[in-house]
Amino acid sequence: MSNRQNCDSGSLSALELFERVTIQGDKVRSLKAAEAPKDEIDTAVRLLLSLKLMYKATTGQDYKAGSPPTDFTPVNNAPALAEDDDFVDPWTVQTSSAKGVDYDKLIVRFGSSKVDKELISRIERVTGQKPHHFLRRGIFFSHRDMNQILDAYENKKPFYLYTGRGPSSEAMHVGHLIPFIFTKWLQEVFDIPLVIQLTDDEKYLWKDLTVKRANEYAIENAKDIIACGFNINKTFIFSDLDYLGMSPGFYKNIVKIQKHVTFNQVKGIFGFTDSDCIGKISFPAIQAAPSFSSTFPQIFKGKEDIQCLIPCAIDQDPYFRMTRDVAPRLGYPKPALLHSIFFPALQGAQTKMSASDPNSSIFLTDTPKQIKTKINKHAFSGGKDTIEEHRKYGGNCDVDVSYMYLTFFLEDDDKLEQLKQDYTSGALLTGELKKALIETLQPLIAAHQERRKQVTNEMVLLGC
Ligand code: TRP
Repeated sequence: MSNRQNCDSGSLSALELFERVTIQGDKVRSLKAAEAPKDEIDTAVRLLLSLKLMYKATTGQDYKAGSPPTDFTPVNNAPALAEDDDFVDPWTVQTSSAKGVDYDKLIVRFGSSKVDKELISRIERVTGQKPHHFLRRGIFFSHRDMNQILDAYENKKPFYLYTGRGPSSEAMHVGHLIPFIFTKWLQEVFDIPLVIQLTDDEKYLWKDLTVKRANEYAIENAKDIIACGFNINKTFIFSDLDYLGMSPGFYKNIVKIQKHVTFNQVKGIFGFTDSDCIGKISFPAIQAAPSFSSTFPQIFKGKEDIQCLIPCAIDQDPYFRMTRDVAPRLGYPKPALLHSIFFPALQGAQTKMSASDPNSSIFLTDTPKQIKTKINKHAFSGGKDTIEEHRKYGGNCDVDVSYMYLTFFLEDDDKLEQLKQDYTSGALLTGELKKALIETLQPLIAAHQERRKQVTNEMVLLGC
C-alpha cells in the first residue's frame, strides 16, 4: 500500500510543481473545449487550484503560465493549505488538517463510491461473516464495483484478489500491514486465489536504489507479508524483477495495456513530465497487468474473464482508474476496488508514515521497549496541556494519533468505545490512552516477529 515515496510532498521541487500546474491547466482547458461533464471539469479545476496553492507555498510566488520558477526564495513558514486542499496521488499525500485527509471529498473527486452501511450489511448477509472492523470503522471507506463482486460470489462465479507493495526499504512498519491484514480476511471469507505484486522495479525507477538492492528489499518484505498468514495453497507472491522475465502471459498483457494508453493520458493521471525517465512512464502498465486473470495462466488455466478485486490504499487508485479505462478495450473485466484511508504518522494525520524516518512509525522489528518509548515520546496527542484542563475539557480523539492507531488495531469494539468516551470526557489521561495502545501493539508485533521467524527462504522462492 502506502509505503510510498510518500510523505515528502515537500520534496516536490518548485520546477516539478510548475510542470504539474501547467499540465493540469492544459487538462482543464481541453476538458472545457471538449465540453466534458461538469463534475469532471470541477474535479480538474479543484486539483489545479490545490496545485497552484502548493506552488505558491513552495516558491512564495503566484504561478505564471510560461514563466518557470528561476530565482525564488523558499518559504519556510509557508502558508498552510486551505482545509479543502488535500493533495493525493501515488507519491504525495498532503493535507493541512490534523484530522487527516477529507475522505468524503476524495470520493467525490476520484468518482468512487462510499462503503456505506448498506454495502456493509450486504457483505455480512452474503458471506455470513461479521464484517471486518476495518469495514465497520470506515478504514476501508471507498470502493468501485463491490456489488458486482458480491453478485459473483452469490452466483458462484469465480473472482480473485490482487494487492501489492513497493519495497522501498527493508523494514516495514505497522501501516504497511493494513492492506495485507484486510486481504487475508477477504481471502478467508471468500476462499479465493490471491496474487501479491512486489514492485521492486518501481522502487528502482523512483528511488535512489540499485536493481540488486530493490530486489533484496522485495525478498525481505515478502517474508513480512507471508508472515501475515495467507492460505499458502491459494497465494502467489512475486517480485516484478524476478517474475516478469519468465512470464509471457504477464508481458503480453503489459504490451497490450501500453498500446492502449497514450503519453498524454499518463501525464494527466500521474503528472509525469518531459523530464521523467521512460521507465516511469511505462510503469503503470506493469502495475495494471495483474488485474487481468490472463496474466497468470498457471493459476487461472488460461481463463481471461475472471474478475479481480483489489484492496489498496486510496493513493493507488490512479493506477486502477487507468486499468479500468483500458480493460473493456482489451476485452477484460474491469477490476473492482476497495480503498483504505492512510495510516497516520505518529506525529499526526497530516501525512502518511515514512519508512525513512524511524520516529514516524512503529516498525515490525521494534522491541517492546522501542514501541513504548516511541509512542510515549512521539504519538501526537489530542489531550490538553495540563491535567487540570484535560479533566475539565477532555481530549480530542479526532486528532489523537494513539486513538487513531487503536481504531486500526484494537479489535474489541466495546473497549474502544469506552476509551473514546473516557478520553473525551477527561476521565482518561493521554498517558493512559497511550498505555492502552502500547499494550495492544506490543503483543501484536511480537506475534508477527514469531511468525516471520518461521518463514523460510524456500517459501519466498516458491512464491507463497
Ligand atoms: N505501487 C504500490 C506501492 O508502491 C505497490 C503495488 C503494486 C500495489 N500493485 C499493487 C498496491 C496493487 C496495491 C495494489 O506500494
